[in-house]
Amino acid sequence: MKSRCVLFLLLLIQQVRTDLQYDNCIYWTSSKGFSLPEFSERRVLNDVTVFYYDSSLRSKTPCPDWINTTAGREEWSSIHFWTDHNRHTVTLAFKSASQQFNLTGSLSDQNIYQASGCCSLYPDGTYKAFLTSAFNGKDFTSFDINTKTFVAAVPQAVLYKNLRERDSTTIEELSAFYKKPCLERLNILKQAPGILIRKVPEVRIFQQQKADSITVTCHVTGFYPRVVQVVWLGPDLQPVDEGVTDVLPNEDGTYQTRKSVIVPEEDVGEHTYSCVVLHSSVPDNITRVWGGEKAGGMAVWISLVCISLLAAGIGLVVWWCCRTRAKAYKYIYKRPEGSAPS
Ligand SMILES: *[C@@H]1O[C@H](CO)[C@@H](O)[C@H](O)[C@H]1NC(C)=O
Ligand SMILES: *[C@@H]1O[C@H](CO)[C@@H](O)[C@H](O)[C@H]1NC(C)=O
Ligand SMILES: *[C@@H]1O[C@H](CO)[C@@H](O)[C@H](O)[C@H]1NC(C)=O
Repeated sequence: MKSRCVLFLLLLIQQVRTDLQYDNCIYWTSSKGFSLPEFSERRVLNDVTVFYYDSSLRSKTPCPDWINTTAGREEWSSIHFWTDHNRHTVTLAFKSASQQFNLTGSLSDQNIYQASGCCSLYPDGTYKAFLTSAFNGKDFTSFDINTKTFVAAVPQAVLYKNLRERDSTTIEELSAFYKKPCLERLNILKQAPGILIRKVPEVRIFQQQKADSITVTCHVTGFYPRVVQVVWLGPDLQPVDEGVTDVLPNEDGTYQTRKSVIVPEEDVGEHTYSCVVLHSSVPDNITRVWGGEKAGGMAVWISLVCISLLAAGIGLVVWWCCRTRAKAYKYIYKRPEGSAPS
């Protein structure tokens, strides 16, 4: 019981902790037949563009004020250096893909190569990184950071994979970058104006008894950014709002939404139902289960007992303090009149 109480308190503390999360992403394109520059690179931190360059621009943006420190200037010139390198590899990928798809006769008049590399830090400390590419909207390659190899998603990508893997120095650097510096750079880049912090949703389930059914609502609040997906999983569920989910703003800039389903009376206690929330602030999903009545009741009881014990403990301390103080007062006031305390 004691350990359960400790666990409960720990959970409480965990929920109070501020939740931060960062995404550091780079997007590249190379295309022909669209009215787009031949090459572009965009660096985005939590949906805010911190660097942009494309081949139609005469020069790259000079170091902006917010990054004008010694470390910042180094970072900026490193970005400039890598942009030149990336322009080379992205153009190479585009040419290689165009040539290979032409060989198989599946090259169109409008062609686009898109690549992206991201590293993300989640509130629970999870770190994820990936580097992938697509040609005309279909998977082309991905980079395996641990084995330091490119994975060709289609036969037409094998040529490019081999070209890249021949340059072992850059492959090493690439793997090393997505393992650590990608994240360290966040400390400099997150000073850019307008960077918004992702907030993890709080998910609660409540129920409402109707004549022959129960309406169960999954309430999701306190999340940022706005995009969210809430799904109910389980047998015999009927949606209440015809699947429409309204996302409403909270006063603190976060958002909230809810999704209700109807569970027929005869299914209550027979099955378990899950509310699954997908949001960019969490690596997988947040799942809350409803329907395990006994388990739920137990948890509530344990919490109540914990709170009672805690309250009793505080009460005891308060009582003890008051009693000691009252004794002290009694002692002072019982002194004989006229004698001053020394
Ligand atoms: C960076 O700051 C220094 C002074 O600390 C200033 O001389 C320089 O012009 C600044 N550079 C840019 C690009 O703003
Ligand atoms: C595709 O291949 C044909 C001949 O095989 C060539 O004439 C044409 O220029 C190629 N197109 C592109 C876009 O490379
Ligand atoms: C939610 O995440 C868990 C792992 O944390 C996974 O097993 C499960 O399939 C996910 N569910 C959905 C609906 O994505």
